[in-house]
Amino acid sequence: MFKRINLFLAVVASMALSVSVYADAYTNIGRAATAEEIAAWDIDVRPDFKGLPAGSGSVEEGEELWEEKCASCHGVFGESNEVFTPIVGGISEGDVKAGRVANLVGNRQPQKTTIMKVATISTLWDYINRAMPWTAPKSLKPDEVYAATAYILSLSGVIPEDFTLSDKNIAEVQKLMPNRNGMSLKHGLRTVDGKPDVHSKACMKNCKTTGKLTSTFPVSARNTHGNIQQQNRTFGAVRGIDTTQPPAKTLKETQERLKLAATEKKGSAKAKGDMLSVAKKNNCLTCHGVKNKIVGPSFNDIATKYKDVKNANVTLEGKVKKGTSGTWGDIPMPAQSASDRDIKALVNWILKGN
Ligand code: HEC
Ligand code: HEC
Repeated sequence: MFKRINLFLAVVASMALSVSVYADAYTNIGRAATAEEIAAWDIDVRPDFKGLPAGSGSVEEGEELWEEKCASCHGVFGESNEVFTPIVGGISEGDVKAGRVANLVGNRQPQKTTIMKVATISTLWDYINRAMPWTAPKSLKPDEVYAATAYILSLSGVIPEDFTLSDKNIAEVQKLMPNRNGMSLKHGLRTVDGKPDVHSKACMKNCKTTGKLTSTFPVSARNTHGNIQQQNRTFGAVRGIDTTQPPAKTLKETQERLKLAATEKKGSAKAKGDMLSVAKKNNCLTCHGVKNKIVGPSFNDIATKYKDVKNANVTLEGKVKKGTSGTWGDIPMPAQSASDRDIKALVNWILKGN
């Protein structure tokens, strides 16, 4: 009886709630962002240095930071390894004077480096601040960003080795940027109404487009560094394509493949979750953690131990079924009453490592 009354009250309450939501017709949804929330997003640094936090960092500090957090990908001297494009190189003293990088003309330099291209020091600072290190974006303190920027500019011969870059002198250093006069509004990626797109007015409706933009990945490069799709980082939009497959012929095909990859990814996460619940259902998790030892060894330690053992799955299925002791210590594992099917699936899952 009480249960029924409770149920009735719950239904009435939820009806009242939905009526009030409709009546308010969106006016009471959400709230204004707080100043702190806006500040967390509003981190861009502009060419006039609006948005630049105060601080400083020396070339020397930059070198230390670089070796610890940047050199693994960008090379000790910013020359970069085979995967990443070089940051430093390709400029001359003459460029620093002229503010225009000679090597940009006529493709004399096979690969354009960051210091060749970047016109504004604020962009360098901003980019490092928001995006680097690649594996831990937004983890650097302002002083560290100053130091990294100083180190890159010192490697490039723009500033001396004993220089300390700060918000006070950054505008002076801008005047030494090798490609500071290289910014141009004369060219765009596309031509819109006969003009480069950089002169276009932003169009919000009934916009004319000049065809679809696509990009291609040369066949020779597709799989040279493994399957790109498996290297997606978990931060930000996921865009990797399966490079073990031949290139898609149409944009639509690419989009379908990306959709498929997204569902497969979800599927495998689900499968992983499912095996955890099978382990839980059969009480394995009271004694085993996936990553940590409880009474018994962690599942991942088991996977490591039997990595190279032939037919380990058959032996272990038997041990789980009948119980075992002495391999990991003195505490025995009692015989498990899980079904044969579950034990087989669990042992296979454990041996894969998770
Ligand atoms: C794990 C690898 C990795 C590490 C570590 C790393 N980066 Fe990068 N960096 C990249 C990748 C990848 C790109 C290109 C990203 C892109 O194009 O979206 C990049 C781009 C850059 C660029 C811009 C290059 C250009 O011309 O567009 C700068 C500058 C840079 N990194 C600085 C740093 C600094 C400073 C650190 C250390 C604090 C660092 N990176 C650490 C991988 C890394
Ligand atoms: C009451 C605690 C307990 C429970 C429940 C338990 N285990 Fe164990 N398990 C252990 C202990 C303790 C060991 C280490 C035994 C040893 O040293 O030989 C172990 C060892 C193992 C091993 C490795 C055996 C070897 O010889 O290397 C596997 C695989 C394993 N357990 C799987 C499972 C699975 C699957 C379940 C659930 C169906 C499960 N365990 C439930 C305590 C438990």
